[in-house]
Amino acid sequence: MSPASKDWTPQSWQSKVALQQPKYPSSEELASAVEEFSHLPPLVTSWEISALKQQLGEAALGQRFLLQGGDCAERFEDCNPATITNKLKILLQMSLVLIQGCKKPVIRVGRFAGQYAKPRSDDFETRDGVTLPSYRGDNINSPAFTSEARVPDPKRMLRAYERAALMLNFIRSLVRGGFADLHHPEYWDLDFVRHSPLAAEYQNMVAGIAESLRFMENVLGVHPGTIEWVDFYASHEALHLYSEQAQTHRVPHRDGFYNLSTHFPWIGMRTADPDGAHVEYFRGIVNPIGVKVGGLMQPDHLARLLDVLHADGEPGRLTLIHRFGAEKIAGSLPRLIDVVRQSGKTVLWFCDPMHGNTRTTSGGIKTRDFADILAELELAFDIHAAAGSYLGGVHFELTGDNVTECTGGARGLNETDLQRAYQSEVDPRLNYEQALEMALLIARKMRTINGRSVRA
Ligand code: PEP
Ligand code: CO
Repeated sequence: MSPASKDWTPQSWQSKVALQQPKYPSSEELASAVEEFSHLPPLVTSWEISALKQQLGEAALGQRFLLQGGDCAERFEDCNPATITNKLKILLQMSLVLIQGCKKPVIRVGRFAGQYAKPRSDDFETRDGVTLPSYRGDNINSPAFTSEARVPDPKRMLRAYERAALMLNFIRSLVRGGFADLHHPEYWDLDFVRHSPLAAEYQNMVAGIAESLRFMENVLGVHPGTIEWVDFYASHEALHLYSEQAQTHRVPHRDGFYNLSTHFPWIGMRTADPDGAHVEYFRGIVNPIGVKVGGLMQPDHLARLLDVLHADGEPGRLTLIHRFGAEKIAGSLPRLIDVVRQSGKTVLWFCDPMHGNTRTTSGGIKTRDFADILAELELAFDIHAAAGSYLGGVHFELTGDNVTECTGGARGLNETDLQRAYQSEVDPRLNYEQALEMALLIARKMRTINGRSVRA
């Protein structure tokens, strides 16, 4: 059954209040860009979307684990082979480590191929007495602090879509071509893994995976054609509603409307009003969807979201991405777990330990500390286990490159190090080593709670 009701269309969000949308100078240019966009071919297919929904449903029931990661905001200039392969490599490596920790299949979802639009706390930014519209992501305007760069340009959404297509094309070819063959994890090694204090632990895990494959093939006689290749799915925050609408279509032989620009769109924390335009748009699409849940989410608000977005309760349809911060999670999460339990519906519980742990240094740099991120995650595992619920995944802002944006980790990056290689225009990301170390530490944590956690 399609979740879209008779009064829903891909445009019906336009009758509601849509927060965080750019103000384009020309509505004619906007309309023409949306029209052109809507005739372009899809980036993903309904088969892939259904396969992911099925897997997320299994994760919601405690049978899989979800790893989602990528940049806070993708930049047009990041659409290059080195940046893309480094990102795939770190996601693959982390997923291998997590498989060893949870002993379950891991679903890999990138925050990529469409993660261009950003919510901003202020519509304007002031520097040295000059005020300009805020940077809202590369599909809207440009971060340079000049009045020309900050004017929203509707053609940028087409440029963003083309880059997303180039990126997915490259990822699909890499995965098909053997880059992700589990028999050859050495293809994924990055130069600086050799210098990491955790290299030995990682190499041991890789050896363990090779051993398990050999065991399956030689001893059990299973030729693991189905496990040789790993899948990647794409996700982004579906914030910019005109571009989401443009790629929302019916497909032959299936019910309902699909957002065919990504497998797994999510609603950001600032746009999760049950009466707002984003929830209106999301209620009508068939894709699996996520909603960010922060400290201000009231139980009745969550109950309404469950009614509107998760009407038939199909496992895999709705993922709740909680992001409270290490200090607040213990006071906030248990009552939301209760709301879901009372609804009788199954959701996938998923932790984003990044966005509740952002702080600004005395020098004015936005950062996050490795220890806070890990602390929130460890608490999330414990709180779900204590509530008889299942934490089915983790969400990171990360990069496969050697940036210095988050403090801490095995190398003990401090605030002075942040100046060395800080590249993000928006939120700070874990670098390659920090991301891998985080995966190793979560895998340890999962081993300690294995067997204790059961599904709600
Ligand atoms: C994000 O994921 O980059 C983001 C803005 O998160 P949130 O909506 O949780 O603040
Ligand atoms: Co972010």
